[in-house]
Amino acid sequence: MLRRPRRNRKSAVVRDMVQETHLTAANLIFPLFVIEGNHIKSEVSSMPGIFRYSLDNLLREVETCMKLGLRAFDLFPNIEEALKDKYATEATRENSLYLRTIAEVKKNFPEACVVTDVAMDPYSSDGHDGIVENGEILNDETLEILGKMAVAHAQAGADIIAPSDMMDGRIGYIRGELDQAGFSHVSLMSYTAKYASAFYGPFRDALNSAPKHGDKKTYQMNPANQREALVEAALDTQEGADFLMVKPALPYLDVINLLHDQVDLPIAAYNVSGEYAMIKASARNGWLDEQRATMEVLLGIRRAGATAILTYHAKEVLEKGWL
Ligand code: PBG
Repeated sequence: MLRRPRRNRKSAVVRDMVQETHLTAANLIFPLFVIEGNHIKSEVSSMPGIFRYSLDNLLREVETCMKLGLRAFDLFPNIEEALKDKYATEATRENSLYLRTIAEVKKNFPEACVVTDVAMDPYSSDGHDGIVENGEILNDETLEILGKMAVAHAQAGADIIAPSDMMDGRIGYIRGELDQAGFSHVSLMSYTAKYASAFYGPFRDALNSAPKHGDKKTYQMNPANQREALVEAALDTQEGADFLMVKPALPYLDVINLLHDQVDLPIAAYNVSGEYAMIKASARNGWLDEQRATMEVLLGIRRAGATAILTYHAKEVLEKGWL
């Protein structure tokens, strides 16, 4: 035999030498949940090791993460039911929990990269990402609210704004609003191919943001479709996105790979709550080697073509020295 591929696997040194994909702290974005109150750290029951923090504790958590080498954080708010309404007005109220959180994180950690989530669902009494009228999700009317949210996030100090709503035309609309308000330096990470997925369940527990009626299938994509992601990617590119995101990650590695090959923008992938819960549940049962399974998942997402990974594993892989 002239060709023996095993020669390149014969020792750790050689294996490391030929390793094609690497994962570093620079690739990771850590999602964090904030809740109103003081001294709160409440675990999300379906996400062991992930907590809703009140702002005081969230700042401590960011500090701990920064010391571990994590530099990018995606913030999500848990909003009291009483503050929710049809138009998500709490989202743009001055001094709201979320806007205060963005501002405090930036004030205390100016070198941190703060990613913010633009979508109505945590604030919407309908639990949807758009205005609901007679059971329909209104597209163009929703854009105005999303634009206001994005400008409020930018004013509070957001570095990257990530619209996760899947309304048509929102990237272009938000880009225009940001530019007009003097925030042309604020980046847009678009949830380009966001699928109507069962894997968001634990996240909706964390934020209490599940739709009160119906589902999200008229705006989030059909899990059966790959080519449709190219339509979304072309639009987001034309409309001024700086990053394209695929979400969830694991069942959609083909989509990550397709966008990586077809589009010149950096690709992000969201390793979502349900993907995290699967690993945690099986590790707790002793069914999987947690370290190896976690690293295999994250490397697999990188190998598919994602440069940035939003993942609930981010802190743990650094804390435990798994990288
Ligand atoms: C909503 C939003 C969702 C997630 C991020 N932003 C859930 C949804 O669309 O219902 C899910 C993230 C996760 O599951 O980790 N705008």
